[in-house]
Amino acid sequence: MRVVTIDGPAGAGKSTVARRLAERLGWRLLDTGAMYRAVTLAAMRRGVDLESDEALGALARGLTVRFETTTVLLNGDDISGEIRTVEVTQASGSIADKPSVRATLVHWQRSFAESHDTITEGRDQGTIVFPDALCKIYLTASPQERARRRLAEFVGKGVKITFESVLHDINARDCRDQAREIAPMRPATDAIEYDSTGLSFDEVVERLEATIRDACNRSNS
Ligand code: C5P
Repeated sequence: MRVVTIDGPAGAGKSTVARRLAERLGWRLLDTGAMYRAVTLAAMRRGVDLESDEALGALARGLTVRFETTTVLLNGDDISGEIRTVEVTQASGSIADKPSVRATLVHWQRSFAESHDTITEGRDQGTIVFPDALCKIYLTASPQERARRRLAEFVGKGVKITFESVLHDINARDCRDQAREIAPMRPATDAIEYDSTGLSFDEVVERLEATIRDACNRSNS
């Protein structure tokens, strides 16, 4: 099956852009951040030590995470809202640097893409999980722009939070994602980099759709 990867830092718009692209192309969307968030939530609920690679790996291997259009299901429960809280977001960083957790999630991700043409978004999709993807995109925007977008999302949900704290959180997550030893966030050497600063959502979607259709045409000919 065909795979397009979209990696990049927090708040670059990967999820919304990937969702729209998947709709337009008629492909399935894989939100890999939601998988890390689901494991984080399960660990918090069960009181598992967030620093124990072994305990978290065992936990992850026993979970079932499924996606149904806009909902994320953990062992059958809808957790779509709960995985987006500030607490889960902050704790997810220490889950994401555990090798046993990553091994399990990489396996889930590859299995998902075996049966569907897939747009997958995350941090390591082009570098580690799908090195032979049809097309690899690395989507960025300035930290200030990403913080503004995240703040608007929080305000829309009625969450009280300041611009400064959102920006601080984004910078901290970027550092952690780039510095981790396992699967650090970086563009694959053959990725196309897009800086979406100053571009509208529709402009980003249109440009990326053209890039992907072009890659599909080239692979068909
Ligand atoms: O993208 P999102 O903010 O939902 O990611 C949640 C967490 O999962 C972040 O801490 C991020 O670093 C991690 N992550 C990851 N690898 C991925 C996707 C997300 O380490 N492929």
